[in-house]
Amino acid sequence: MSRRLLSVLEQVKSDPRDETAIADLKKRLVLQSLRTEFHVSKRRLREMAVYLIHEMHEGLRPNNESTLAMIPSFVKQKNAKNFSGLLFAIDLGGTNFRVIRMILERGALVGQQSTKYTIPVEHIEGGTAEGLFGCIAEKISVFMKTFPLPAALQNVAAAGGHFPLGFTFSFPVDQKAIDAGALKNWTKGFTTTGVVGKDVVELLQKEINKRDLPMKVVALCNDTVGTLVTRFFEDDQTELGVILGTGANACYWEARSNITKLPRDPQTEGSGGGNNNNKKVSFDDDQMIVNMEFGNFDSKKLLVLPVTQVDQELDADSPPEQLGKQRFEKMISGKYLGDIVRRVLIRASSHGFLPACIHEQLGKNNRPSFESRDAGLITSDRNPGQHLARAILSERYGCTGLSDADMYFISQVCHLVQRRSAQLAGMAIAAVLMKTGKQDNATVAVDGSVYGKTPGYPRHMMDAIGAVLGDNRGVRVKYTSDGSGLGAGYIAALTQV
Ligand code: BGC
Repeated sequence: MSRRLLSVLEQVKSDPRDETAIADLKKRLVLQSLRTEFHVSKRRLREMAVYLIHEMHEGLRPNNESTLAMIPSFVKQKNAKNFSGLLFAIDLGGTNFRVIRMILERGALVGQQSTKYTIPVEHIEGGTAEGLFGCIAEKISVFMKTFPLPAALQNVAAAGGHFPLGFTFSFPVDQKAIDAGALKNWTKGFTTTGVVGKDVVELLQKEINKRDLPMKVVALCNDTVGTLVTRFFEDDQTELGVILGTGANACYWEARSNITKLPRDPQTEGSGGGNNNNKKVSFDDDQMIVNMEFGNFDSKKLLVLPVTQVDQELDADSPPEQLGKQRFEKMISGKYLGDIVRRVLIRASSHGFLPACIHEQLGKNNRPSFESRDAGLITSDRNPGQHLARAILSERYGCTGLSDADMYFISQVCHLVQRRSAQLAGMAIAAVLMKTGKQDNATVAVDGSVYGKTPGYPRHMMDAIGAVLGDNRGVRVKYTSDGSGLGAGYIAALTQV
């Protein structure tokens, strides 16, 4: 773990008696040391990529010891053009969730309605399973009132029929089938009780049934899987689905034969044993999407992650059940980037390199957390005077009277933390492409606010992909907004063909 920032702050020490020129030089030295600490070298990126590939292999085996869960999604390549009809998708991955109604004609999306709802915090922090899933079902009822079924389909519901529903649930799930999976552990600060170890499809279906809603949950998927499938419907060279938002994760197409922890599939592999009726025991070309859960990469031993003391502190302040977990996610996702920035700024301010209002305001216990979105807005404000950035700092966080030099320092810290995130995300994408051998021609579908709303992020990510692979090869990164929700609908459609 690097203690560079801390040592520099302590050695250099700002002193109110310093002449301006000396004070400026000290500030520059601190910034320079931050630049070094938050920059990941090409060599380190490659070391991480190689170790990530090793962890992927381990995670695909039975009884693995890997930090990557490598969860089979049960989504296989099928021809979506055989489905036409109306279906629903629910997308739950953070404090907001969405209900979507989709109409597909021969696999193509020809109509959609969707609404976003906020889940009250009492269902997220320590609430109950019934409260959380009941709240979702309640909002589906509201949605059905806002968007009544087309007249021609109302008799389906009246006669007790059901429409297929795909459920994007963006947490680590022990998936047993396309429509069954138990939550392994919560991430992203959720602590709702009574869900870990339970089948989330059953929990949702129970609440849907209680309200007589005409839906059957036919597919459960991760948001990365939804994103990959959504892009795959347009571009069959899509190899990865990546989310860089509140949380971070990726999934990819893996050869079924490499997923040795999956029980052998009697349908494709014959009956085995003595009663083999000559079906081929070969599935070499079969592909299945695997949800990597890469947020937990290297969390056990921190062998390769470029962890700083600030990262250690952030982890130490996690809820007890999330302590020591998701260490990679805690360096790259939107839930944490703002907090990393906040911690660095507090350090610099309490050592006298930024005005005291910074540590006084940002260090308050009842403070609003420093939002990653605000860090993005601060970096994007390149106007002389940085009025937008100043307004954010004063109106949202109560930090006023900042000089131009302070503003430069603050936006540099935001930029460095965001760039490190982009580098690590790019490393992970490159590692997956190296593992599958697809680096010469692949589309990577990416969704999430960190990727979509952070200035310069796509460029830094692409640079890191290039640093690991030698050059960018044939890698195309495509922003696939809404992929996570729509994807659940597409996957639900695949179960019907
Ligand atoms: C979850 C993943 C999810 C990712 C992005 C992580 O915290 O563990 O399942 O894909 O966030 O939403």
